[in-house]
Amino acid sequence: MNNYIEKNRDKFLNELLDLIRIPSVSADSKFKNDMRRAAEFVRDRISEAGADRVEIYETPGHPIVYGEKIIDPSLPTVLVYGHYDVQPADPYELWDSPPFEPVIKNERIYARGACDDKGQFYMHIKAFETMLATDSLTCNVKMMIEGEEEVGSSHLETFVKENRDMLKCDTILISDTSMIANDVPSIETGLRGLTYLEVEVVGANRDLHSGVYGGGVANPINVLCEMIASLKDENGHITIPGFYDNVQDLTQAERDALNAAPFDLDEYKKDLKIDDVAGEKGYTTIERTSVRPTLDVNGIWGGYIGEGAKTVLPSKANAKISMRLVPNQTDQEICDLFTKHFKAIAPASVKIKVVPHHGGLPYVTPTDSLEYKAAEMAMEESFGKKPIPTRGGGSIPIVALFEQELGRKSILMGFGLDLDGLHGPNESYGLFNYYKGIETIPLFFKHYAALKKVD
Ligand code: BES
Ligand code: MN
Ligand code: MN
Repeated sequence: MNNYIEKNRDKFLNELLDLIRIPSVSADSKFKNDMRRAAEFVRDRISEAGADRVEIYETPGHPIVYGEKIIDPSLPTVLVYGHYDVQPADPYELWDSPPFEPVIKNERIYARGACDDKGQFYMHIKAFETMLATDSLTCNVKMMIEGEEEVGSSHLETFVKENRDMLKCDTILISDTSMIANDVPSIETGLRGLTYLEVEVVGANRDLHSGVYGGGVANPINVLCEMIASLKDENGHITIPGFYDNVQDLTQAERDALNAAPFDLDEYKKDLKIDDVAGEKGYTTIERTSVRPTLDVNGIWGGYIGEGAKTVLPSKANAKISMRLVPNQTDQEICDLFTKHFKAIAPASVKIKVVPHHGGLPYVTPTDSLEYKAAEMAMEESFGKKPIPTRGGGSIPIVALFEQELGRKSILMGFGLDLDGLHGPNESYGLFNYYKGIETIPLFFKHYAALKKVD
């Protein structure tokens, strides 16, 4: 098997680079055609790799690609999930090389989507090809690669609900998360949920002279800033009433286990060029970024931001706000609590609009399941070290829905690193990680089939 991977090293890489060259940005309608081209590319590669029933499924948004190989109905079935859409590459001027023209430097691929999630899901197609070509496939495989993960997977939700039979499986395998380091393999056993919304604060019906009206009429930007500032107290605690009501606190043993993972706070600060970290009092950085909920402004705008000075009292201010959620918060509940609170704290001098964007539920998976053990054994075999279970801070909205609709747990066997710079400029993915993934995935299938057999 490793022979086959070795022989096809260049081919495996060049195909990924071709996929990366398609600017499949789901959030921006200007890339609609590229989204389709990416879906067709994925369909053709899955088909060439040897899958059956390969098809593009239309949705009211971007298409979903599906293919499967059922070698023996009595064998376990693994559903592989990934996403071919990527985040917008803006701002382009922060990139050292054009985001959709991948370059290889220092053994890394630099491009938007290099890691998230093109580099990671493409490993599965190549691992699948390898297993078929070397006659070593030990499970049935279903592959579903969607195009709307970065915008909340809302149409995939409908698709999953309508195609439960087709997607029926024993477990779900996903590579769309990170490990601690190349020599410290780890597996994320949880994801945070998400509530994302946009707020608008409106003062007067038009922009006003800040001298003539200033001091007498509410400035929506000032008001928005005060309102946002009041959403956290001096301990970094979120002040929205009821926000923490359903948060499941960890036991001291669970907290100790989390904090036992290798983490160097000084290195962390040095890497980010910050003098200190910030966050909720009473929790470590690991906890703050994985098992505690957050509230962050992702963007804020209004008024005059051109060159020079313009004296204006703007009529409107806006912000995009996200909250990361932990078990057992739900995105719907938190969205409602936020909306109610935000309207309640607004002064009578302004009007407020809250528009929800997308959301997703948090997720946790136990470490004593057969599928977790298979992933652990696979990584131990390929890395020569047992992977550490960690809790991830990011979100993959469909994972909780898989559990609800298919009744199956997902295994987050990701090969990325935090230094890959997901969503930022100069995103990258290590060649080591790409090939290690292709090598490890067949081992997951091998161990999973063996564990299921004796089960
Ligand atoms: N692959 C990421 C999620 C991720 C990254 C999880 C690293 C764990 C470690 C995924 O593509 C992503 O970016 N999800 C979004 C959510 C979505 C609804 C926009 C996120 O977490 O912001
Ligand atoms: Mn992703
Ligand atoms: Mn992402």
